[in-house]
Amino acid sequence: MRIGIAGAGRIGSMHAENTSTLDEFDDILIYDPAPDRAARLAQAVGAEATEDLDHLLTADAVLICTPTDTHPELVRRAIKAKVPALCEKPLAPSLAEMRTLVPEIEASDVPVTVGFHRRFDPATVELHRRLRAGEVGRVYQVHAVCNDFEPPPGEFIATSGGLFRDCLIHDLDAIPWLLDEPVTEVYASGSVLVDEAFADIGDWDNVTATLRFPSGAQALLSASRHDPVGYDCRTILYGSKDTLAAGLDPRTPVNSLEPDGPRPASPYRGFQDRYRLAYLNELKAFAAIASGGAGNPSPAEASLRSLALAEACEQSVRSGLPVRLA
Ligand SMILES: NC(=O)c1ccc[n+]([C@@H]2O[C@H](COP(=O)([O-])OP(=O)(O)OC[C@H]3O[C@@H](n4cnc5c(N)ncnc54)[C@H](O)[C@@H]3O)[C@@H](O)[C@H]2O)c1
Repeated sequence: MRIGIAGAGRIGSMHAENTSTLDEFDDILIYDPAPDRAARLAQAVGAEATEDLDHLLTADAVLICTPTDTHPELVRRAIKAKVPALCEKPLAPSLAEMRTLVPEIEASDVPVTVGFHRRFDPATVELHRRLRAGEVGRVYQVHAVCNDFEPPPGEFIATSGGLFRDCLIHDLDAIPWLLDEPVTEVYASGSVLVDEAFADIGDWDNVTATLRFPSGAQALLSASRHDPVGYDCRTILYGSKDTLAAGLDPRTPVNSLEPDGPRPASPYRGFQDRYRLAYLNELKAFAAIASGGAGNPSPAEASLRSLALAEACEQSVRSGLPVRLA
Protein backbone atom coordinates (compact mmCIF):
# COMPACT_ATOMS: atom_id res chain seq x y z
CA MET A 1 0.00 0.00 0.00
CA ARG A 2 1.17 3.54 -0.83
CA ILE A 3 0.55 5.66 2.27
CA GLY A 4 0.39 9.45 2.37
CA ILE A 5 1.22 11.41 5.54
CA ALA A 6 -0.01 14.98 5.99
CA GLY A 7 1.98 16.76 8.71
CA ALA A 8 5.61 16.04 9.58
CA GLY A 9 5.54 17.18 13.23
CA ARG A 10 5.68 15.05 16.40
CA ILE A 11 3.01 12.48 15.62
CA GLY A 12 3.54 12.56 11.83
CA SER A 13 7.24 11.75 12.33
CA MET A 14 6.40 8.86 14.65
CA HIS A 15 3.84 7.43 12.19
CA ALA A 16 6.32 7.86 9.33
CA GLU A 17 8.96 5.86 11.22
CA ASN A 18 6.40 3.19 12.12
CA THR A 19 5.01 2.85 8.58
CA SER A 20 8.57 2.42 7.30
CA THR A 21 8.94 -0.69 9.50
CA LEU A 22 5.64 -2.37 8.59
CA ASP A 23 5.14 -4.74 5.64
CA GLU A 24 1.65 -3.31 5.06
CA PHE A 25 3.15 -0.13 3.58
CA ASP A 26 5.33 -0.24 0.44
CA ASP A 27 5.78 3.46 -0.28
CA ILE A 28 5.45 6.58 1.88
CA LEU A 29 4.63 10.07 0.63
CA ILE A 30 4.94 13.03 3.06
CA TYR A 31 3.32 16.47 2.79
CA ASP A 32 3.90 19.48 5.07
CA PRO A 33 3.61 23.19 4.24
CA ALA A 34 6.54 24.09 6.54
CA PRO A 35 9.63 24.58 4.39
CA ASP A 36 11.93 21.52 4.42
CA ARG A 37 10.04 19.62 7.13
CA ALA A 38 8.54 17.01 4.77
CA ALA A 39 11.85 16.71 2.90
CA ARG A 40 13.85 16.12 6.09
CA LEU A 41 11.46 13.48 7.40
CA ALA A 42 11.24 11.81 3.98
CA GLN A 43 14.99 11.54 3.85
CA ALA A 44 15.12 10.04 7.36
CA VAL A 45 12.57 7.29 6.63
CA GLY A 46 13.21 6.64 2.94
CA ALA A 47 10.02 8.33 1.74
CA GLU A 48 9.06 10.80 -1.00
CA ALA A 49 8.26 14.42 -0.02
CA THR A 50 5.68 16.55 -1.78
CA GLU A 51 4.46 20.14 -1.50
CA ASP A 52 1.29 19.32 -3.41
CA LEU A 53 -1.75 18.11 -1.47
CA ASP A 54 -3.38 16.76 -4.66
CA HIS A 55 -0.31 14.61 -5.20
CA LEU A 56 -0.51 13.36 -1.59
CA LEU A 57 -4.08 12.30 -2.28
CA THR A 58 -2.96 9.99 -5.08
CA ALA A 59 -1.87 7.62 -2.27
CA ASP A 60 -4.00 4.55 -1.41
CA ALA A 61 -4.66 5.88 2.10
CA VAL A 62 -3.68 8.91 4.14
CA LEU A 63 -2.67 9.71 7.73
CA ILE A 64 -3.78 13.18 8.85
CA CYS A 65 -1.23 14.35 11.44
CA THR A 66 -1.70 18.11 11.24
CA PRO A 67 -2.91 20.64 13.84
CA THR A 68 -6.46 19.88 14.98
CA ASP A 69 -8.05 22.94 13.34
CA THR A 70 -6.92 21.65 9.91
CA HIS A 71 -8.47 18.17 10.33
CA PRO A 72 -11.97 18.91 8.95
CA GLU A 73 -10.67 20.40 5.70
CA LEU A 74 -8.14 17.61 5.15
CA VAL A 75 -10.71 14.90 5.95
CA ARG A 76 -13.10 16.50 3.44
CA ARG A 77 -10.33 16.55 0.80
CA ALA A 78 -9.58 12.87 1.50
CA ILE A 79 -13.19 11.70 1.25
CA LYS A 80 -13.73 13.78 -1.90
CA ALA A 81 -10.70 12.01 -3.43
CA LYS A 82 -12.08 8.69 -2.08
CA VAL A 83 -8.91 8.07 -0.05
CA PRO A 84 -9.39 6.27 3.31
CA ALA A 85 -8.04 8.37 6.18
CA LEU A 86 -6.66 7.83 9.65
CA CYS A 87 -7.14 11.23 11.27
CA GLU A 88 -5.42 12.14 14.51
CA LYS A 89 -7.67 12.99 17.45
CA PRO A 90 -9.73 15.01 17.88
CA LEU A 91 -11.40 14.79 14.47
CA ALA A 92 -12.42 18.46 14.70
CA PRO A 93 -11.64 21.27 17.13
CA SER A 94 -15.25 21.76 18.27
CA LEU A 95 -18.40 19.70 18.67
CA ALA A 96 -20.28 22.08 16.34
CA GLU A 97 -17.76 21.39 13.54
CA MET A 98 -17.73 17.68 14.25
CA ARG A 99 -21.53 17.51 14.04
CA THR A 100 -21.32 18.84 10.46
CA LEU A 101 -18.36 16.68 9.48
CA VAL A 102 -19.45 13.25 10.77
CA PRO A 103 -22.60 12.98 8.57
CA GLU A 104 -20.48 13.96 5.54
CA ILE A 105 -18.04 11.14 6.36
CA GLU A 106 -20.86 8.65 6.86
CA ALA A 107 -22.53 9.66 3.57
CA SER A 108 -19.23 9.25 1.70
CA ASP A 109 -18.66 5.52 2.32
CA VAL A 110 -14.94 6.30 2.61
CA PRO A 111 -13.51 4.79 5.81
CA VAL A 112 -12.25 7.33 8.33
CA THR A 113 -10.56 6.07 11.49
CA VAL A 114 -9.85 8.42 14.41
CA GLY A 115 -6.43 8.06 16.07
CA PHE A 116 -7.62 7.03 19.52
CA HIS A 117 -4.69 4.67 19.99
CA ARG A 118 -5.94 3.25 23.34
CA ARG A 119 -8.49 1.28 21.30
CA PHE A 120 -5.46 -0.56 19.81
CA ASP A 121 -3.37 -0.82 23.00
CA PRO A 122 -2.95 -4.51 23.97
CA ALA A 123 -3.65 -4.05 27.72
CA THR A 124 -6.61 -1.73 27.13
CA VAL A 125 -8.06 -4.10 24.52
CA GLU A 126 -7.66 -6.97 27.02
CA LEU A 127 -9.43 -4.88 29.68
CA HIS A 128 -12.25 -4.35 27.17
CA ARG A 129 -12.43 -8.10 26.46
CA ARG A 130 -12.53 -9.05 30.15
CA LEU A 131 -15.26 -6.51 30.85
CA ARG A 132 -17.39 -7.86 27.97
CA ALA A 133 -16.76 -11.43 29.18
CA GLY A 134 -18.06 -10.50 32.66
CA GLU A 135 -14.71 -11.25 34.31
CA VAL A 136 -14.63 -7.94 36.19
CA GLY A 137 -18.17 -8.26 37.52
CA ARG A 138 -20.00 -5.10 38.43
CA VAL A 139 -17.83 -2.02 37.79
CA TYR A 140 -17.48 0.14 40.89
CA GLN A 141 -14.85 2.72 39.95
CA VAL A 142 -12.26 3.66 37.34
CA HIS A 143 -9.15 5.69 38.13
CA ALA A 144 -7.21 7.10 35.18
CA VAL A 145 -4.03 9.18 35.07
CA CYS A 146 -2.59 10.89 31.99
CA ASN A 147 0.58 12.89 32.72
CA ASP A 148 3.08 14.30 30.23
CA PHE A 149 6.74 14.00 31.21
CA GLU A 150 7.43 17.50 29.85
CA PRO A 151 4.96 20.02 28.48
CA PRO A 152 4.62 19.98 24.67
CA PRO A 153 6.43 22.65 22.61
CA GLY A 154 5.02 26.21 22.84
CA GLU A 155 3.88 26.30 19.20
CA PHE A 156 1.82 23.12 19.77
CA ILE A 157 0.15 24.44 22.95
CA ALA A 158 -1.51 27.28 21.03
CA THR A 159 -3.06 24.83 18.52
CA SER A 160 -3.75 21.98 20.98
CA GLY A 161 -7.33 22.96 21.81
CA GLY A 162 -6.55 22.72 25.54
CA LEU A 163 -5.80 19.95 28.02
CA PHE A 164 -9.29 18.40 27.97
CA ARG A 165 -9.54 18.19 24.14
CA ASP A 166 -5.88 17.31 23.65
CA CYS A 167 -5.02 14.85 26.48
CA LEU A 168 -7.93 13.93 28.68
CA ILE A 169 -9.94 13.19 25.51
CA HIS A 170 -8.14 9.83 25.33
CA ASP A 171 -9.74 8.82 28.65
CA LEU A 172 -13.03 10.48 27.71
CA ASP A 173 -13.04 8.19 24.67
CA ALA A 174 -11.65 5.03 26.28
CA ILE A 175 -13.59 4.84 29.55
CA PRO A 176 -17.16 5.01 28.15
CA TRP A 177 -15.96 2.58 25.41
CA LEU A 178 -14.62 0.19 28.07
CA LEU A 179 -17.72 0.41 30.25
CA ASP A 180 -20.09 0.44 27.24
CA GLU A 181 -22.16 3.11 28.94
CA PRO A 182 -22.77 6.79 28.20
CA VAL A 183 -21.68 9.40 30.75
CA THR A 184 -24.58 11.14 32.45
CA GLU A 185 -22.68 13.80 34.39
CA VAL A 186 -19.21 15.36 34.57
CA TYR A 187 -17.67 17.55 37.24
CA ALA A 188 -14.24 18.99 36.50
CA SER A 189 -11.63 21.26 37.99
CA GLY A 190 -8.48 22.91 36.60
CA SER A 191 -5.38 24.81 37.76
CA VAL A 192 -2.32 26.45 36.23
CA LEU A 193 0.70 25.20 38.19
CA VAL A 194 3.34 24.47 35.54
CA ASP A 195 3.48 27.48 33.20
CA GLU A 196 1.45 30.71 33.01
CA ALA A 197 1.54 30.29 29.19
CA PHE A 198 -1.42 27.92 29.66
CA ALA A 199 -3.41 30.60 31.46
CA ASP A 200 -2.61 33.06 28.65
CA ILE A 201 -4.61 30.91 26.21
CA GLY A 202 -7.43 30.25 28.72
CA ASP A 203 -6.25 26.71 29.43
CA TRP A 204 -5.13 24.74 32.49
CA ASP A 205 -2.07 22.52 32.91
CA ASN A 206 -3.49 20.28 35.67
CA VAL A 207 -7.07 19.02 35.56
CA THR A 208 -9.32 16.47 37.23
CA ALA A 209 -12.75 15.21 36.20
CA THR A 210 -15.27 12.84 37.67
CA LEU A 211 -17.66 10.99 35.38
CA ARG A 212 -20.90 9.35 36.41
CA PHE A 213 -22.52 6.46 34.50
CA PRO A 214 -26.16 5.21 34.50
CA SER A 215 -25.11 2.00 36.32
CA GLY A 216 -23.79 4.10 39.22
CA ALA A 217 -20.14 3.43 38.27
CA GLN A 218 -17.88 6.46 38.66
CA ALA A 219 -14.59 7.40 37.01
CA LEU A 220 -11.95 9.70 38.45
CA LEU A 221 -9.63 11.16 35.82
CA SER A 222 -6.62 13.44 36.06
CA ALA A 223 -4.13 14.91 33.61
CA SER A 224 -1.03 17.04 34.00
CA ARG A 225 1.30 18.71 31.50
CA HIS A 226 4.29 17.86 33.71
CA ASP A 227 5.42 14.81 35.63
CA PRO A 228 9.08 14.97 36.75
CA VAL A 229 9.45 11.18 36.81
CA GLY A 230 8.08 10.37 33.36
CA TYR A 231 5.07 9.90 31.08
CA ASP A 232 2.40 8.25 33.20
CA CYS A 233 -0.76 6.98 31.53
CA ARG A 234 -2.67 4.25 33.30
CA THR A 235 -6.19 3.07 33.92
CA ILE A 236 -7.21 1.07 36.99
CA LEU A 237 -10.58 -0.58 37.05
CA TYR A 238 -12.17 -1.70 40.33
CA GLY A 239 -14.97 -4.27 39.96
CA SER A 240 -16.85 -6.76 42.11
CA LYS A 241 -14.75 -9.70 40.80
CA ASP A 242 -11.36 -8.19 39.97
CA THR A 243 -9.15 -5.11 40.02
CA LEU A 244 -7.29 -4.63 36.75
CA ALA A 245 -4.81 -2.10 35.40
CA ALA A 246 -3.56 -1.04 31.98
CA GLY A 247 -0.30 0.92 32.06
CA LEU A 248 1.07 -0.51 35.30
CA ASP A 249 4.45 -2.17 34.74
CA PRO A 250 8.08 -1.83 35.93
CA ARG A 251 8.45 1.34 33.80
CA THR A 252 5.42 3.16 35.26
CA PRO A 253 6.93 6.45 36.50
CA VAL A 254 6.03 6.25 40.18
CA ASN A 255 8.68 5.93 42.91
CA SER A 256 7.30 3.76 45.67
CA LEU A 257 8.42 4.49 49.23
CA GLU A 258 7.78 0.91 50.33
CA PRO A 259 10.93 -1.21 50.93
CA ASP A 260 10.11 -3.65 48.10
CA GLY A 261 8.10 -1.22 46.01
CA PRO A 262 9.02 -0.27 42.43
CA ARG A 263 11.38 2.61 41.60
CA PRO A 264 11.60 2.46 37.80
CA ALA A 265 15.10 2.50 36.32
CA SER A 266 13.89 3.65 32.89
CA PRO A 267 10.47 5.24 33.24
CA TYR A 268 8.41 6.03 30.12
CA ARG A 269 9.39 9.39 28.66
CA GLY A 270 6.64 10.07 26.14
CA PHE A 271 3.58 8.80 24.29
CA GLN A 272 5.76 7.35 21.50
CA ASP A 273 7.53 5.10 24.01
CA ARG A 274 4.61 4.21 26.29
CA TYR A 275 2.15 3.34 23.49
CA ARG A 276 4.63 1.93 20.92
CA LEU A 277 2.62 -1.26 20.35
CA ALA A 278 -0.70 0.59 20.30
CA TYR A 279 0.48 2.88 17.49
CA LEU A 280 1.83 -0.07 15.48
CA ASN A 281 -1.44 -1.98 15.96
CA GLU A 282 -3.41 1.13 14.97
CA LEU A 283 -1.49 1.36 11.67
CA LYS A 284 -1.91 -2.35 10.94
CA ALA A 285 -5.64 -2.13 11.66
CA PHE A 286 -5.94 0.97 9.48
CA ALA A 287 -4.17 -0.79 6.58
CA ALA A 288 -6.76 -3.59 6.84
CA ILE A 289 -9.65 -1.08 6.98
CA ALA A 290 -8.30 0.90 4.01
CA SER A 291 -7.77 -2.29 1.97
CA GLY A 292 -11.46 -3.07 2.49
CA GLY A 293 -13.41 -5.44 4.67
CA ALA A 294 -12.01 -4.90 8.15
CA GLY A 295 -14.20 -3.38 10.88
CA ASN A 296 -13.32 0.10 12.13
CA PRO A 297 -12.60 0.06 15.90
CA SER A 298 -12.46 3.87 16.10
CA PRO A 299 -15.07 5.34 13.75
CA ALA A 300 -15.76 9.05 13.30
CA GLU A 301 -19.22 8.78 14.84
CA ALA A 302 -17.83 7.45 18.15
CA SER A 303 -15.59 10.47 18.55
CA LEU A 304 -18.57 12.83 18.88
CA ARG A 305 -19.01 11.52 22.42
CA SER A 306 -15.50 12.26 23.70
CA LEU A 307 -15.50 15.78 22.31
CA ALA A 308 -18.91 16.45 23.87
CA LEU A 309 -17.45 15.28 27.19
CA ALA A 310 -14.32 17.45 26.79
CA GLU A 311 -16.49 20.50 26.17
CA ALA A 312 -18.70 19.60 29.15
CA CYS A 313 -15.57 19.35 31.35
CA GLU A 314 -14.43 22.82 30.23
CA GLN A 315 -17.90 24.18 30.99
CA SER A 316 -17.79 22.57 34.43
CA VAL A 317 -14.39 24.12 35.28
CA ARG A 318 -15.58 27.56 34.19
CA SER A 319 -18.91 27.37 36.04
CA GLY A 320 -17.70 25.40 39.08
CA LEU A 321 -20.78 23.20 38.66
CA PRO A 322 -21.45 19.65 37.50
CA VAL A 323 -22.71 19.38 33.90
CA ARG A 324 -25.39 16.85 32.97
CA LEU A 325 -25.17 15.23 29.54
CA ALA A 326 -28.23 14.74 27.35
N1 LIG B 1 -2.72 10.10 19.26
C1 LIG B 1 -1.78 10.69 19.96
O1 LIG B 1 -1.24 10.14 20.89
C2 LIG B 1 -1.33 12.09 19.60
C3 LIG B 1 -0.13 12.58 20.12
C4 LIG B 1 0.30 13.85 19.73
C5 LIG B 1 -0.48 14.60 18.86
N2 LIG B 1 -1.67 14.10 18.40
C6 LIG B 1 -2.51 14.90 17.48
O2 LIG B 1 -1.81 15.00 16.24
C7 LIG B 1 -2.04 16.29 15.67
C8 LIG B 1 -0.69 16.95 15.39
O3 LIG B 1 0.01 17.08 16.61
P1 LIG B 1 1.61 17.21 16.64
O4 LIG B 1 1.98 17.14 18.05
O5 LIG B 1 2.25 16.28 15.68
O6 LIG B 1 1.76 18.72 16.10
P2 LIG B 1 3.05 19.41 15.52
O7 LIG B 1 2.83 20.87 15.68
O8 LIG B 1 4.29 18.79 16.08
O9 LIG B 1 3.04 19.04 13.95
C9 LIG B 1 2.04 19.46 13.06
C10 LIG B 1 2.65 19.50 11.66
O10 LIG B 1 1.62 19.76 10.70
C11 LIG B 1 2.07 20.72 9.77
N3 LIG B 1 0.92 21.36 9.14
C12 LIG B 1 0.27 22.45 9.53
N4 LIG B 1 -0.79 22.68 8.69
C13 LIG B 1 -0.76 21.69 7.78
C14 LIG B 1 -1.58 21.37 6.65
N5 LIG B 1 -2.65 22.11 6.34
N6 LIG B 1 -1.24 20.28 5.92
C15 LIG B 1 -0.17 19.51 6.24
N7 LIG B 1 0.63 19.76 7.31
C16 LIG B 1 0.32 20.85 8.06
C17 LIG B 1 2.99 21.63 10.56
O11 LIG B 1 3.90 22.33 9.70
C18 LIG B 1 3.69 20.61 11.47
O12 LIG B 1 4.84 20.07 10.87
C19 LIG B 1 -2.93 17.06 16.64
O13 LIG B 1 -4.26 16.96 16.21
C20 LIG B 1 -2.75 16.31 17.96
O14 LIG B 1 -3.90 16.38 18.79
C21 LIG B 1 -2.07 12.86 18.73
